[in-house]
Amino acid sequence: MTDVAGRYAELLAAGELKPDAAQAAVVARLAALETALNRPVETPGLIGRLFGKAPPAAPKGLYIWGGVGRGKSMAMDLFFAASSVSPKRRAHFHEFMAEVHGAIHVRRKAGDTDPLMSVADQIAQSACLLCFDEMQVKDIADAAILSRLFTALLERGVTVVTTCNRPPRDLYKDGLNRHLFLPFIDLIEATLDVVTLDGPTDYRLARLSGTQTWHVPNGPEATAALSSAFFRMTDYPPEDREHVPTAELPLPGDRFLHVPKSLKGVAVFSFARLCRQPLGAADYLAIARHYHTVLIVGIPKLGPENRNEAIRFIHLIDALYEQKVKLVAAADARPDQLYPAGDSSFEFERTASRLMEMQSAAYLALGHGG
Ligand SMILES: Nc1ncnc2c1ncn2[C@@H]1O[C@H](COP(=O)(O)OP(=O)(O)OP(=O)(O)O)[C@@H](O)[C@H]1O
Ligand SMILES: [Mg+2]
Repeated sequence: MTDVAGRYAELLAAGELKPDAAQAAVVARLAALETALNRPVETPGLIGRLFGKAPPAAPKGLYIWGGVGRGKSMAMDLFFAASSVSPKRRAHFHEFMAEVHGAIHVRRKAGDTDPLMSVADQIAQSACLLCFDEMQVKDIADAAILSRLFTALLERGVTVVTTCNRPPRDLYKDGLNRHLFLPFIDLIEATLDVVTLDGPTDYRLARLSGTQTWHVPNGPEATAALSSAFFRMTDYPPEDREHVPTAELPLPGDRFLHVPKSLKGVAVFSFARLCRQPLGAADYLAIARHYHTVLIVGIPKLGPENRNEAIRFIHLIDALYEQKVKLVAAADARPDQLYPAGDSSFEFERTASRLMEMQSAAYLALGHGG
């Protein structure tokens, strides 16, 4: 079987992946881990055991962290697919933890006095290599058991590789009873090699360039185009469209904006939500800082009677433009025909010009942020 470095080289040669120094460095670390995993295990001999020699520790795993779209999951998946370790398992961290809680519950009901340890035994038997995608700790239930669970897994010789958007120190940041969680952070730092994969390119974002981002008119075709852009940008399975998370985005003055779809720095809004409510420039700036890509559906053609909406839309686009947010939109007219007459239609010309620029390959290639 081709190893992870070989497979990565093949994909580069085939042009499927672009050369990226940060990725190459992480792939080299993964290749070294694979070599360590393949080394024959030396169990201590009789004399060794007599003198209390501990069984050999499993090779140190990796904690790969960095911004969205940098290729963390891609690198880990190449490693996982190429690894000859058996048995091995790759799981989404959130699903894995849900499963752990379920199994603990079943054991406890069956009268097990230390259900967490039994579950750790069970997991260790089912995989000596565990790859987790998107480690994140959001609730106290996970935070409370992670330290013991991971200690138990490591003691049982399991090697863990995980991807994450934050460094270990920022896990469960501002979480309830965070002090209970700190031992887990120490454990990660002591037992995994923490590596960053944070090159300059968000490859997922790069996928927008070359695609149409302003769709006219509103209707099923435009909706389908936006929805496909959303799934492409977030790598979210379209079959599961009903479960795309929502969010409450904090706005200045202790207010919140409901974001109907919010995932991986991408938000979907209706024009009505953004421009028919009393939102102002500071609110739009909060949106623009928080999301690298915004999808807006249902932008109507505006007339003199829509003065307020038009002015809000001007502020919205100014904020998005200044923060280099990528915009994908469904509208009833091209930008230059969106608000031909009415108060501030002169200022709107600049908005239209910005909207044209925001569709260009050069704009789409810019990084997010002011
Ligand atoms: N070097 C590259 N050249 C071209 N495409 C790439 C490259 N690296 C990654 N990609 C593609 O970019 C997309 C994003 O990569 P990936 O999902 O691995 O990012 P990530 O770091 O895991 O992001 P997130 O934190 O959002 O999960 C994937 O479709 C991946 O195949
Ligand atoms: Mg990922």
